[in-house]
Amino acid sequence: MQVIHTIAELRSALGHHAQRGFVPTMGNLHDGHLALVRQARELVGPAGAVVASIFVNRLQFAPHEDFDTYPRTLERDCELLKGAGCDLVFAPSEQELYPEPQGYKLLPPPELADILEGHFRPGFFTGVCTVVHKLFNIVQPTLAVFGKKDYQQLMVIRRMVAQMALPIAIHGGETRRNEQGLALSSRNGYLSEAEKAEALRLSRTLKALIARWQAGERDLAQLEADAMQALRDAGWAPDYVTLRRQHDLGPAEHGQPLVALAAARLGKTRLIDNLELPAA
Ligand code: PAF
Repeated sequence: MQVIHTIAELRSALGHHAQRGFVPTMGNLHDGHLALVRQARELVGPAGAVVASIFVNRLQFAPHEDFDTYPRTLERDCELLKGAGCDLVFAPSEQELYPEPQGYKLLPPPELADILEGHFRPGFFTGVCTVVHKLFNIVQPTLAVFGKKDYQQLMVIRRMVAQMALPIAIHGGETRRNEQGLALSSRNGYLSEAEKAEALRLSRTLKALIARWQAGERDLAQLEADAMQALRDAGWAPDYVTLRRQHDLGPAEHGQPLVALAAARLGKTRLIDNLELPAA
């Protein structure tokens, strides 16, 4: 496995590979990321190249967020990627990726990008789309794998690729959970042991919401309000708990594939999770 820091070196290393599977990350990797790399390896086949990028993208962090303290663990990440079947790690410096202030940005449509995460993190998906589009231009992958853990991000990227006619197949990777059911996330490292146990409440809250919907309750506003209150009662500060259509995250409708999504702060840590429901 090669670790590459410049665009020029990456382009020359990738030159002869027609099939390229790409997994963009911000590093501080866990088994969820490695599963995406293994999925890219399967999809691209033994002759293809699997590329993972590691870049903490300043553009997607608000000034009060954790850009400066986001864990940078390149050496450990590279060891893990090697074991997962990655061929090339692209780990550019900020100067390499943004040699001048990134004035050109990719603005995703508000109906998809200014709701849920985008509502609570204004500009987040502009930052994500801008860096992902740039990384796509650099790597020129034939396919890319994004985790369903960041469900809205996956939908935003899918729509970007479709609207921009990028010749890249976007695949979703299933969320990996620990034995207790906590979705793996780089930010779990911020949780104390007690908070880790409490963090399970987020997926349990989603399950309770889904169970009520599946039992025939259709007052969505009430279901969502009850779920938010259950979190508040346990000391959380929820941003949203909601049931949406899978493909465009519009309001839930009976008979369509749905997804329950939540974001809430536990102590100082903001966690997100989601669970898909099959079509009824
Ligand atoms: O999901 C992430 O880690 C980031 O949003 C991504 C896709 C690597 C873009 O910086």
